[in-house]
Amino acid sequence: MHDHQHVPMVPIVRGEGAWLIDAGGRRYLDGISSWWTNLFGHANPRIAAALAEQARTLEHVIFAGFTHPVAIELAERLVALTPQGLDKVFFADNGSAAIEVALKMSFHYWLNQGHGGKTRFIALTGSYHGETLGALSVSDVALYRKTYAPLLLTPMLAPSPDAYEGEPGESPEHVAMRRLAAMRVLLEGHAHETCAVIVEPLVQCAGGMRMHHAAFLTGLRALCDQYNVHLIADEIAVGFGRTGTLFACEQAHVAPDFMCLSKGLTGGTLPLSAVLTTQQVYDAFYAEYNAGKAFLHSHSYTGNPLACRAALETLNIFRDEPVLERNRTLATHLARRLAPLRDHPNVADLRQHGMIAAVELVADKASRRTFPSEERRGLRVYLHGLGRGALLRPLGNVIYFMPPYVVSEGEIDHLVDVAIEGITHAVA
Ligand SMILES: Cc1ncc(COP(=O)(O)O)c(C=O)c1O
Repeated sequence: MHDHQHVPMVPIVRGEGAWLIDAGGRRYLDGISSWWTNLFGHANPRIAAALAEQARTLEHVIFAGFTHPVAIELAERLVALTPQGLDKVFFADNGSAAIEVALKMSFHYWLNQGHGGKTRFIALTGSYHGETLGALSVSDVALYRKTYAPLLLTPMLAPSPDAYEGEPGESPEHVAMRRLAAMRVLLEGHAHETCAVIVEPLVQCAGGMRMHHAAFLTGLRALCDQYNVHLIADEIAVGFGRTGTLFACEQAHVAPDFMCLSKGLTGGTLPLSAVLTTQQVYDAFYAEYNAGKAFLHSHSYTGNPLACRAALETLNIFRDEPVLERNRTLATHLARRLAPLRDHPNVADLRQHGMIAAVELVADKASRRTFPSEERRGLRVYLHGLGRGALLRPLGNVIYFMPPYVVSEGEIDHLVDVAIEGITHAVA
């Protein structure tokens, strides 16, 4: 809040496609899909119409003992779209809540199976899974975690397969293999006390849009099977077409034991999340009441009909329009426009997975020495963007692009032009 003595707070009154419009009529191109949620544009007419109709029909109903057709249809459609074997759906109401559900359900599964000694989780360095206490526990971004560390669970951290952290000249696939070897060592020593390994497939987003090779996920699935540990795929940010496939796990040809979805699930209109899991997990909880095996997790707004309806209409858009094909064209255009930055003296890395692209700003290219965080170079890019009608919100020294899928090539040009100007200004 102190920053806002100097940095204007932007009062947005309207959204239109990829644009946000403020109270003074100024327009900002939403280069980060309003925290990676928006897929098909702000105030999307299809989703708005579906919501209006749903609001006139059923806005909410208790989701215990009662159910409703929109949640049933949504669950069935998610089961059909997600990797094979994910046949059961648990609804929650935001990304962090989905992580809490997956962590608790994994622990409780093992408890119900007679493995009460499994109480810990393995997460990757640089990971981010949300900011409620459980989700923050399995996150490793110091900015968010450090202050609250005394309150948190103590997960084991395995080194991230982040390709940027590879040795000079090392291929992303080789980094992945090396990190799998470290994961194997950790599992060998700790599988007996480990419920699950939790990962953000392909892109560790809040940790700086760090990317890894799909072979890591393929190998991790095999390791989790071998050591009898669950695999939790947090597709909250990367799901729904962000990385080029509907779900990032598809690129590794794996099905996790738990898949967490949120953000784009409703096209970015309302908070909703879903945890998909297997029949095997479901069966471990299915018992007569007094057996006390039931999964206990109830949020008031679980399965909210409005949010579920927004999600259904989002899936209808995926069904009716060639979204992934169009994204491929847009991603190629974005890559082409960003390419000249590779030669920039303050750019150490330019990386992309589909509709996520990131530029790693450094003080020195050869040594990859970073700018001290107190210098807040990213903030300069943000401020430059506001002045030029673009919402870019760097993560530290990482400038990234994650626009809504309705963006045009011309709009991508605008984002990239503004970012390049901002970078020039920021490193000066
Ligand atoms: C990968 C990932 N997991 C979980 C979350 C938490 O979601 P929410 O902000 O809805 O709690 C986020 C949010 O950015 C995320 O990127």
